Amino acid sequence: MRSVLVAAAVAVLGVTAVLAQGDPIAARKELMKSVGAATRTGNQMAKGEIPFDAAKAKEIMRVYANAADKMHTYFPENSKTGGDTTASPKIWESQAEFRKRFDDWAEDIKKASAQTDDIESFKTAFGNVTKACGGCHETFRIKRN
Ligand code: HEC
Repeated sequence: MRSVLVAAAVAVLGVTAVLAQGDPIAARKELMKSVGAATRTGNQMAKGEIPFDAAKAKEIMRVYANAADKMHTYFPENSKTGGDTTASPKIWESQAEFRKRFDDWAEDIKKASAQTDDIESFKTAFGNVTKACGGCHETFRIKRN
């Protein structure tokens, strides 16, 4: 029941709804879900499955920039476990490195955001900013069976 409510609230209000509940695990998961959804749209555009849309391309970069900016704030000491998190303990052991990943990603996103006006430049820009996903997950997420 709770998860249904959370999902509904998030759909309507976005991450702010979760944040209001003071739940950093839920907040960071929702933030990453928004990144996942934006990436699906980006992939579809890059592959020509849906028509290129400059407004959508900009929105994808905006979602990424928001995540790169806020994500690192949702890892307080008391959020290492629980809430079905896949966050690795390495996040707290190597906080500076974790933080730097987001800062470097933010730099890449800034560059990519200036290259979203046509499909060819978007493809290159999108390819560049999505390289960071796997690299970070590999190091800072635990794998589930
Ligand atoms: C600098 C680190 C970092 C980068 C870059 C990053 N992620 Fe994540 N991502 C995480 C962490 C940490 C989690 C685990 C959060 C948790 O479970 O508490 C996560 C979780 C996720 C999840 C699961 C959310 C859920 O439902 O629990 C998705 C989907 C995701 N990331 C997609 C992406 C995509 C797509 C990109 C690139 C466009 C990306 N991430 C870039 C760190 C990162």
